[in-house]
Amino acid sequence: MRISVIGCGYLGAVHAACMAKLGHDVVGIDVDTRKIAALSAAQAPFYEPGLDELLDEVQSAGKLAFTTDMAAAAGCDVHFICVGTPQKKGENGADMSFVDGATVALLPHLQPGNLVIGKSTVPVGTAARLAELVRDAVPTAQLMWNPEFLREGHAVSDTLQPDRFVYGVDGGSEDHPAVAILDEVYSGPLNVGTPRLVADLATAELVKAAANSFLATKISFINAMAEVCEAAGADVTQLADAIGLDDRIGRKFLNAGIGFGGGCLPKDIRAFMARAGELGADQALTFLREVDAINMRRRTRVVELTRELCGGMLLGKRITVLGAAFKPESDDVRDSPALSIAAQLQLQGAVVTVTDPKALANAAGRFPELHYEPDSDRAVQRADALLLLTEWPQYRDLDPYELAASVGSPRILDGRNVLDGAKWRAAGWTYRGLGRP
Ligand code: UGA
Repeated sequence: MRISVIGCGYLGAVHAACMAKLGHDVVGIDVDTRKIAALSAAQAPFYEPGLDELLDEVQSAGKLAFTTDMAAAAGCDVHFICVGTPQKKGENGADMSFVDGATVALLPHLQPGNLVIGKSTVPVGTAARLAELVRDAVPTAQLMWNPEFLREGHAVSDTLQPDRFVYGVDGGSEDHPAVAILDEVYSGPLNVGTPRLVADLATAELVKAAANSFLATKISFINAMAEVCEAAGADVTQLADAIGLDDRIGRKFLNAGIGFGGGCLPKDIRAFMARAGELGADQALTFLREVDAINMRRRTRVVELTRELCGGMLLGKRITVLGAAFKPESDDVRDSPALSIAAQLQLQGAVVTVTDPKALANAAGRFPELHYEPDSDRAVQRADALLLLTEWPQYRDLDPYELAASVGSPRILDGRNVLDGAKWRAAGWTYRGLGRP
């Protein structure tokens, strides 16, 4: 099929490349000329494992092109809207200007029978509103919503082998003509048995908000348990292992630590609360305020623990932060808890050095006042304390015996509970985990 993908960020660039991989003829469209130039040269403007290779493969095969010209959408049958919905400045709600702008810009290029498919995470009610715009512009064109569940760092495999598809169509019926069109787009994964659910527009939009809210709640639940474990002298990692064996609970997303960040979970739970408020259902989601508050408390807790670890004072202490990205295998620093902690420590007088294998350029853009050192061996030299805040494999695998010789004082705070505390203590380190004795 001929497909346009509008918005070539974390979601759209991956989606465009994967649709081309599935055999479609794809054009990726974005207003950012630098992004388009990089993608055309098979260099993703962000780090995502496997994406550069895939971009190269599908562009060499002539299946994918990128442009800033919206008119390129004109020959396509299907148009995916993949632009961002960041948090509004100074408000909890989502900024819809990119989704609205992209849809309006597409309208003059729509042709009879075209299908517009929204993938962005939007407040419930958006799809119905945009569907009307599409119908008004071209009566035989339609809009459906198909939320995206990919995780950064696994985006290519999550797109090519998703765990489910959710189709939102007006009326929610299997017989809606858009269902057959999207089935053709996704025929590859559907043929290998990927589950597919058809729902009405509002339900499909809510599935995404509910999924991210559940994940955020799961993380904050275990972080709340970490607070209790700390007070009681118990171990949250063992607690998570034990409750996780109950398959109604499950062990995934029960890693206590410095909490969740990134461009999705934090802003999505806030936008969900804001939208529920507009709908008069704010009471239903007041628990998400607590989820958010527990998450934010983790960052303050790490600053306090670091102070304790440094003998009660941060002033002039050399702190090395291992990891700046909001999670490993990503260079994304949007609402990164690691960077937020690094900045708070610096504000309180510590001399902070941040290292990360991929995210330093983005980090320096956000917090130019911090000191960045790409070479992790150099970054740890003479440190008074190390803080492992993003669990990149190279930090998980650090050898406490070797490292002890480089640092000023052998003290480490394991913000992700991924190190073997006993081993580090045996090597002479003062080790602190979160929610662990
Ligand atoms: C999240 C969802 O997991 C995806 O399903 C969704 O499609 C995506 O948002 C989106 O809305 O686009 P992502 O933001 O890439 O994906 O990252 P996650 O893997 O969910 O991690 C989010 C944060 O939670 C990270 O900071 C991570 O370190 C933290 N986390 C995760 C924990 O603190 N503990 C855990 O047990 C798991």
